[in-house]
Amino acid sequence: MANVIVIGSYVTDLMTLTPHLPKPGETVLGGPFQMGPGGKGANQATAAARSGSHVTYMTKLGTDIFGEQALQYFKNEGMNVDYIKQDPTEITGTAQIIVDQHSENSIAVALGACGKITKEDVYATEEKFKGSDIALVQFETSMEAIQTTIELASKHHVPLILNPAPYRDFPKELLTKVSYITPNEIEASELSGIKVIDELSARKAAERIYEMGIPHIIITMGKQGVYLYTGEGTGELIPAFSVHAIDTTGAGDAFSGGLAHSLAAGKELKESIRYANAVAALCVTKLGTAPAMPHKEQVEHFLKESGEVKSD
Ligand code: RIB
Ligand code: NA
Repeated sequence: MANVIVIGSYVTDLMTLTPHLPKPGETVLGGPFQMGPGGKGANQATAAARSGSHVTYMTKLGTDIFGEQALQYFKNEGMNVDYIKQDPTEITGTAQIIVDQHSENSIAVALGACGKITKEDVYATEEKFKGSDIALVQFETSMEAIQTTIELASKHHVPLILNPAPYRDFPKELLTKVSYITPNEIEASELSGIKVIDELSARKAAERIYEMGIPHIIITMGKQGVYLYTGEGTGELIPAFSVHAIDTTGAGDAFSGGLAHSLAAGKELKESIRYANAVAALCVTKLGTAPAMPHKEQVEHFLKESGEVKSD
């Protein structure tokens, strides 16, 4: 079985659909409203677990009602929750999400407890790194948690996927210990200093990021697809699947979680990207984040159908 260890955020997503995103000072009447588990780490862990990986998830929650719900959620999804911490002095994180009718979103996150994950909290999971096929981390927790995760993965020779979202400043020398990086256009632009808008600029940005010491650069570009660069003489745009998007929130998470699963299962990188693209495509057809992640059977069915369409 594929073993994946994920360290990251949990926040309760409070999502409202509105006709348009409110301007500063504006109140917009909207609905429906949906509340559920979210946070980039939790979303990615869910995507990997629903694909069939055995997932160990490490995060920090409050002892409030949202924290209790979260713990139950991770158990229901079949994840190993042995390393999840609860801190009575912190709130469980929340995200206020607004999605408009074009499926554009605006998000404000209060990380609460999951922003306070310490080095020691991460070290407590060290035993689990030893049996893991892939480690996965995002930028949505404390920098010391991110740093420790990268160091532990490197120490135990576990390939690590870094999803640098949301983008922030970080010690660049960490990148030499990262195996795969999955920025979107904005994050790739921040990281490289090159504005990513199309295939050509994605290539330039990817070359720059590659020089920072990461062997596999995977830039997710929404509808345009995914730009993959693995060193000189390589570089290609792998197309995304075209679907009717309802809510693109969590699409990047679906991709990183799907990629983690497929790589952990021993699949080739390009095949894994295709799999991850399918997970992301299915996620955007549903409202919500973690609960919108598809299960293995759905992904396989979707890939089969898409394959048939192509060969016509
Ligand atoms: O990537 C989507 C996630 O970002 C949402 O679940 C929200 O919680 C924010 O953290
Ligand atoms: Na969604």
